[in-house]
Amino acid sequence: MNRDHFGSSFGVLVAMAGSAVGLGNLWRFPYLMGTNGGAAFIILYLVMVFVLCLPLLYCEFVVGRRTQTNLITAFSQYAPGSRWSIVGILGLLGAFFILSFYPVVGGWSIDYIVRAIGFEFRDMAAAPAAEFEQMFQQTMAFSPRSLIFHFVYIALTAFIVLAGIRDGIERYTKWMMPLLFLMVVVIAIRSILLPGAQAGLDFLFKPDFSQITGKTFLDALGQAFFSLSIGCGSILTYASYVKRSENIIKLSSMTALTDTLFAIIAGMAIMPAVFAYGLSPGEGPGLLYAVLPRIFAEMPMGSWIAILFFIILFIAAVTSSISLLEVLVSVVIEKLRWSRKKAVILMTLVCWVIGIFSVWSSEIFDFFNNFSSNVILPLGGLLLVIYVGWVADFRIFEDEITNAGRLHYNRFYLRWVRFVIRYLAPLIILTILLAGVL
Ligand code: PFF
Repeated sequence: MNRDHFGSSFGVLVAMAGSAVGLGNLWRFPYLMGTNGGAAFIILYLVMVFVLCLPLLYCEFVVGRRTQTNLITAFSQYAPGSRWSIVGILGLLGAFFILSFYPVVGGWSIDYIVRAIGFEFRDMAAAPAAEFEQMFQQTMAFSPRSLIFHFVYIALTAFIVLAGIRDGIERYTKWMMPLLFLMVVVIAIRSILLPGAQAGLDFLFKPDFSQITGKTFLDALGQAFFSLSIGCGSILTYASYVKRSENIIKLSSMTALTDTLFAIIAGMAIMPAVFAYGLSPGEGPGLLYAVLPRIFAEMPMGSWIAILFFIILFIAAVTSSISLLEVLVSVVIEKLRWSRKKAVILMTLVCWVIGIFSVWSSEIFDFFNNFSSNVILPLGGLLLVIYVGWVADFRIFEDEITNAGRLHYNRFYLRWVRFVIRYLAPLIILTILLAGVL
């Protein structure tokens, strides 16, 4: 079968960064940082991303590009004869789980775009916090309105994936990602210029290590996996459409850098405003939807900033959910030999139906949200490093990241990567997972 491919290195980068940058950066990261003490959490998170998770990103990239096939087949091909396609199945489960709550939050972003365009926040200026909380409760409640927005979100995701890699995913992420960056920078500048913003910057950049607990480690690890899109095959699947001449280390590092930069800028857009208006950063998952609109209601030019912000949120979310849907779709296309259209429709329907349960119950929603990032993704990552580092011949990995010896890297860096993949990552992930679960 002739497989679709990305047209350029830039196309690969924006697609991968598009997968990484998402609700994880704008919704999850701020509320986790807010409940875990700010700067100290960020430092822990940075260590998790660059020490631990970047080599894992290489692993997913390598397995995908080497095998040029879907998640399930990739694991049986990369180490022939092993029974490790189970890692792929766990990945599929992870993609299903995330797609069971992610589009719900994506649906809220559409709901809030509609509210912002109708100047609803401006009309609520000076209203007490409880009213904003109530608005968010209303948005989340199981109602025709929330079901419609959930559906619209999933349908838009399906629309892009339907068009394929080059004509769909690459074509849309190419303009969405730069736009996203520009918009979030505008909001960060607006936020930092508010009187009283300094306290928010202190919260972001002055660490207080006494805030770190065992739970902080698990949250930081789970968030690093979630934010970089590793552990459930999104990067692997995109990498399977990447040409052999591309530079894996460069593209992975740029993806991780973009994602982290975006998370920090998102923090700078949100926290200074939260502090400037005397609100609490430790609000939890409602931070973005119950607290920010209150700020938009009072901020000069807030109505416009609100529209911009929720559009950003929506774009960031869509460029991530397409990467999850593509994981499922590519498996169905190649394993069942279905057309792309049929595969997209089937998988979208399945995710839509499971997602309805998350719209219906916040317990189910929380379960999918926390279980996928704090258990399935790290577990997927753990199996991935054992697979690449021990089950398969490690020389394949080395061959692949150097493009069969054509690219040269510092010897010590390559040794370090090998050490992380074979020893450090399995040890740390296992410890944190066990400590978190027990
Ligand atoms: N990285 C995305 C975000 O930060 O919102 C979420 C995500 C996408 C997680 C794809 C996992 C994945 F495979």
